[in-house]
Amino acid sequence: MKILNLYACLGGNRYKWDEVADIEVTAVELDPELARLYQERFPNDIVIIEDAHQYLLDHYKEFDFIWSSPPCPTHSRPRFWAYGQTKTVYPDLKLYEEIILLQHHFKGKFVVENVIPYYDLLIPGIKRGRHLYWTNFNLPNKLTTRDNSGFLNQKSVMNDLIKFHEYDFNKYKGEQRTLKIARNLVDYEAGKTILETALGIINRENVNQTTMF
Ligand SMILES: C[S@@+](CC[C@H](N)C(=O)[O-])C[C@H]1O[C@@H](n2cnc3c(N)ncnc32)[C@H](O)[C@@H]1O
Repeated sequence: MKILNLYACLGGNRYKWDEVADIEVTAVELDPELARLYQERFPNDIVIIEDAHQYLLDHYKEFDFIWSSPPCPTHSRPRFWAYGQTKTVYPDLKLYEEIILLQHHFKGKFVVENVIPYYDLLIPGIKRGRHLYWTNFNLPNKLTTRDNSGFLNQKSVMNDLIKFHEYDFNKYKGEQRTLKIARNLVDYEAGKTILETALGIINRENVNQTTMF
């Protein structure tokens, strides 16, 4: 099964995929330091340092399953609440370009993941925890039994994130803030549940999109 993992970061979503199926993963990440660490973490994956948005357009037909996690800051509510203190920016509508392309042109299964935005959704998605998902298959009501809500807003959060994601983020020596990167990762159990669901492995009784908005 050929999987495309776009905006790969350190592969929070991808961490447990080898337990689900026999997979061949291509990961695209623009930050060379993150790409290097991703390759170290997943030595069998093909890692490409390019713009994921363009890569999707050029290569989507080559894959069976596509996961995309475009950057969320221009959509996020904290950024909106900080308007006045930060520079005002347009929401990056490449998020919606990718959803439309995948919904209308891609023949496999896909997931686009992002935060809950400060505006009404332009395309309906599925809320699960703090995340929004656009998919072309039903998602279970519960993606994970792991709880990270207690420590995400605390100041001394790094050690908790290291334990939660089973990854030492202090290895990162690039230009982004290490804590921001650590906060970016999707919970690996949610990533695993979503791939299992796409492949029809998850019990269908739990698959019911009740919170579509
Ligand atoms: C929200 S994080 C993805 C988290 C990932 N799904 C995980 O669970 O680990 C977004 C990532 O996209 C990367 N990125 C930002 N712009 C990019 C672009 N144009 N092409 C590829 N990667 C990009 C950032 O460096 C960051 O690592």
